[in-house]
Amino acid sequence: MSNSFGIDLGTGNIKIYYSADDSILNEKNIIAIKNKDTLFAYGDSAFEMYEKAPGNIHISYPLTNGVIADIKNMQTVLKCFIEDLAGSKAAGADYYISVPTDVTEVEKRSFFDLVKDAGVKARKIMVVEKAIADGLGLDIDVKNSQGVLVVDIGFATTEISILSLGGIVLSKLIKTGGQKFDEAIRAAVRKEFNLMIGGKTAEAVKVSLKELEDEGLPAVVYGRDIVTGLPVEREIPTQLVDQALKEHFDIIIDNIKVILERTPPELAADIYRHGIYVTGGSARTNHLGELISAGTNLKVNIAENAADSVACGLARVINDDNYKSVAYSIQGMSK
Ligand SMILES: Nc1ncnc2c1ncn2[C@@H]1O[C@H](COP(=O)(O)OP(=O)(O)OP(=O)(O)O)[C@@H](O)[C@H]1O
Ligand SMILES: [Mg+2]
Repeated sequence: MSNSFGIDLGTGNIKIYYSADDSILNEKNIIAIKNKDTLFAYGDSAFEMYEKAPGNIHISYPLTNGVIADIKNMQTVLKCFIEDLAGSKAAGADYYISVPTDVTEVEKRSFFDLVKDAGVKARKIMVVEKAIADGLGLDIDVKNSQGVLVVDIGFATTEISILSLGGIVLSKLIKTGGQKFDEAIRAAVRKEFNLMIGGKTAEAVKVSLKELEDEGLPAVVYGRDIVTGLPVEREIPTQLVDQALKEHFDIIIDNIKVILERTPPELAADIYRHGIYVTGGSARTNHLGELISAGTNLKVNIAENAADSVACGLARVINDDNYKSVAYSIQGMSK
């Protein structure tokens, strides 16, 4: 069998399944460029420098809200990772790339063109709707189920989709996710404590919330006092953070309800029986799952492999001929 790659380009993280190693790489989808045109770092090592780099190093995310915004830099990042993974064996490989559903045809096609033009010498490029890959990655029998509700809560986006019999019935992409959660934490800390904290600090607070709450401890953060301008340490009650996040959770819950209202009633039985599948890196955000359940009166299943369920699904498409039919080609489709 030829080498295959399964690629999930996320706004925050790039995930690559590589068939020869049967492994999934998950790194920050970010690039650092020095003096305008020299590649300085990519992936996790570029993220290390984020918010800390000097003026001549420009660090950026090539995707915005789930779609490719900076083709050139996205190609560079992809090519670098493919070379790291496979070296000279990469030439002639097959690519399966996931795409969001609720975007324009041009935006969808740009994922295909990206691989075609990245200089990786692809033999074949196939596209898989992200929600279908999510379903497969969660071990759901997407081809035979009549009604599966998947909510993928990522970095910049949340994709709410209803799948049935291997296809997508409804899908809505909304612009909220982990990044908005981090911003909400920063804004609340600034308002309550006159304290500026960085994005990484806010993310660390968010990820440790459950543990802190279980132990009854506040979050300890370092930042800059707005009034004095000096660096300080502060204790932030977890309750304040929970409150700040709730507003964004409500947006997600309201949108899930809108999708449920528009779902054909014949699909409701399966959805009711199985409950909602919640995945994406932000699926485990403190209290989110239970609030979705309370808001919809449905059971919520949080994915074990939430951070890379799309890549796991692409792996199944690559390795199991039974699922090849969910992948399609957009070669030759008009622009
Ligand atoms: N344990 C955790 N608790 C809460 N959030 C988490 C946890 N682990 C990771 N995250 C969040 O998950 C987000 C990244 O998720 P993911 O990799 O699914 O996004 P993405 O696919 O890059 O983005 P998108 O799908 O929006 O394009 C980040 O905001 C990160 O803070
Ligand atoms: Mg994603």
